[in-house]
Amino acid sequence: MSRRGRLLTSSRPLPDFDVVGSKGSWLHLADGRRVFDGSSGLLCVNVGQGSRKVFSRIEQQFSRFSFGGAAVVQPHIQLELMDRLCRAVGRPEDSVALTTCGTLAVEVAVSLARNVTRVRDGKRRGDILTSDLSYHGMSALTLSLAGNHARRPRPEDALGLHPAFPAPYPPTHGHEGRGCDVSCADEVAVAIDSRGAENVCTVLIEPVNGTTGGAYVPPDGYLRRVSQICRERDVLVIHDEVLTGLWRTGTPLASRHWDGAEPDLCILSKGLGAGYTSVGAVLVSPDIAPLIRHEDADPLPAMGTMATHPLQAAACLGVLDELEAMDLDAFIARGERLGKSLRALAALEPVREVRGLGHLYGVEVEPGLLWPLMEEAEKRDVFFYPFTGAGHPRSEGLVVAPALTSTDEDITFLTAALFDAVTALNPHS
Ligand SMILES: Cc1ncc(COP(=O)(O)O)c(C=O)c1O
Repeated sequence: MSRRGRLLTSSRPLPDFDVVGSKGSWLHLADGRRVFDGSSGLLCVNVGQGSRKVFSRIEQQFSRFSFGGAAVVQPHIQLELMDRLCRAVGRPEDSVALTTCGTLAVEVAVSLARNVTRVRDGKRRGDILTSDLSYHGMSALTLSLAGNHARRPRPEDALGLHPAFPAPYPPTHGHEGRGCDVSCADEVAVAIDSRGAENVCTVLIEPVNGTTGGAYVPPDGYLRRVSQICRERDVLVIHDEVLTGLWRTGTPLASRHWDGAEPDLCILSKGLGAGYTSVGAVLVSPDIAPLIRHEDADPLPAMGTMATHPLQAAACLGVLDELEAMDLDAFIARGERLGKSLRALAALEPVREVRGLGHLYGVEVEPGLLWPLMEEAEKRDVFFYPFTGAGHPRSEGLVVAPALTSTDEDITFLTAALFDAVTALNPHS
């Protein structure tokens, strides 16, 4: 068997990029080509490649000590990271659990939420409710909970779990012709009440959909209404901002696009490590954090050997340095320009819809055109993340998510290349 066949990372053939260097969003290949990464790796290289700020933080920490687990060395650098991170997302009084990836952060958030409701109510409220168009990670638990059609385990392997309510996006609803609106949130109330609120611990939700549906944005007021429904029933809300957190959608947290949508727990990952380190963080609001430390509470969930790694924290601090150095007004304007240019693609025949916010968009194309479009884009030295989402036949398209530190020239290049690629597909152009 070929060496490629033995590497078990992707079931589809990947472009054979021999990357010899990188800067920002550009990959430099051995054959002299430069290729633009239009999806920030796996939606994570948010501050671009080759950051000197990240490098110098890691170098500094490396020269001090490279490993010091929480039980071995006082984790001062984790304390610094906790403070910086909480301030960066406008939740300065939160408590923080650090893990090694997004999946484990979701697992830890679920465990912490269960600890809270158990000590608060003195009984087991175990159920975790998710939407039928969602992704929350690749562990047995998170795959079983989430509504990612392609990745759902077989029923007999799904631990008896499944998503609990329809996502508030057109292809997942039987709305008989009318668009999704805030009344979609009533489905969450129905899901909780049908199980009995006393059995439900939390609603776990992506405030803006990531790669599963291709950057769907919920109707205005939806998240606020979900929070209200949960509060009325003593159910906690966890926002999975693994993909959207730290400015991907143009705000520190995606939920900030709407008032009254602040969750009890919030999960960050991709944009925090920004591709420099593997990390997950669970932020817990001060309203419930004391319950986790209560004398009757269950022990803290285990975070794993590498969870409080000093080099991980150093890299994250470097990423926060980069984010804080951004000219926010220019960054927001660039995101709006990106959105405007991409929305103009919807006038071209192969494009069904363009949706998204900030530096995160889904460009949905007619069924069957995703892979030809990927090829056309690669011919123009740009690549994107493919999505195959909801509905019958499944919607498909590109997630467009350049680095947050992209320049005006980068955005011009990306949108022009994508316009050309789509036009090349259009038989009537
Ligand atoms: C919304 C969301 N949650 C959780 C995860 C899992 O994160 P990780 O791949 O770091 O385990 C992902 C990864 O794509 C994600 O997009």
